Amino acid sequence: MKFQGTSNYVATQDLMLAVNAAITLKRPLLVKGEPGTGKTMLAEEVSQALGLPLLQWHIKSTTKAQQGLYEYDAVSRLRDSQLAELDGGERVKNIHNYIVKGVLWQAFTAKEPVALLIDEIDKADIEFPNDLLRELDRMEFYCYETRELIRAQHRPLVFITSNNEKELPDAFLRRCFFHYIKFPDADTMKRIVDVHFPNLKQELLTAAMKTFFDTRNLPGLKKKPSTSELLDWLKLLLAEDIPLSALQSGDDRVSLPPLIGALLKNEQDVSLFEKLLHMQRNHR
Ligand SMILES: Nc1ncnc2c1ncn2[C@@H]1O[C@H](COP(=O)(O)OP(=O)(O)O)[C@@H](O)[C@H]1O
Ligand SMILES: [Mg+2]
Repeated sequence: MKFQGTSNYVATQDLMLAVNAAITLKRPLLVKGEPGTGKTMLAEEVSQALGLPLLQWHIKSTTKAQQGLYEYDAVSRLRDSQLAELDGGERVKNIHNYIVKGVLWQAFTAKEPVALLIDEIDKADIEFPNDLLRELDRMEFYCYETRELIRAQHRPLVFITSNNEKELPDAFLRRCFFHYIKFPDADTMKRIVDVHFPNLKQELLTAAMKTFFDTRNLPGLKKKPSTSELLDWLKLLLAEDIPLSALQSGDDRVSLPPLIGALLKNEQDVSLFEKLLHMQRNHR
């Protein structure tokens, strides 16, 4: 098993190395990076390239580690037991009917090797990563209700992503292979755009990229636009048939670039950008 990038996804050399290192070490690959830099897509593309079905677990602030293992649906069982006189209570007797399997259970018991994505682990509370340490390390856990040991038949290829909203515990980090997706440089970004818009005119691309990187480099920006926002913006520019001239700054240009709402997501950032335009004009 070796990952070499795909036609839909631009992977830099160091990212490919990281993926293959995690495969070799049989450790989870922890991918950090700004939102929109292709962390979730990486898991989708790698699993597809390697022919592994992908099980996804999207973490929210309320997600508990146990939900990834299993949950015991006591409420349904109680309800069924109250109705048991009707059907003889066969269903109620078997506790397996009330165990809701989580993604880890599914991944561990899959017939074929699978990939598992634990997406945005930093959303959960601070205990969450520690609560999964043993399960991810040993690839097994115990179900007390059914008295079964659930053990992975094949070690799943595990991807864990983080937007860096919270620090992760050291004990957890020690067990992962780590990779930070750096924000793409201009060349890499061109390649990414090319994957999504193969027929984009070079002049439009150059002008849009200039506006994009100028925007990103504004000092004091609250939320820097990222790859996915550039792609959204380009899509809109194409859909609205925006002429090249609207992007290139003329001498009297003080207006914002068209559809800037795809790139800047709050009013302070927009006014910062306006200030910059005014300053540029005054310096001419
Ligand atoms: N390296 C890349 N190659 C191709 N498309 C990319 C790449 N990085 C980001 N994208 C685009 O950006 C979008 C957002 O990526 P996503 O994986 O959701 O980011 P993240 O999970 O890091 O927030 C993707 O749907 C894809 O269209
Ligand atoms: Mg994501």
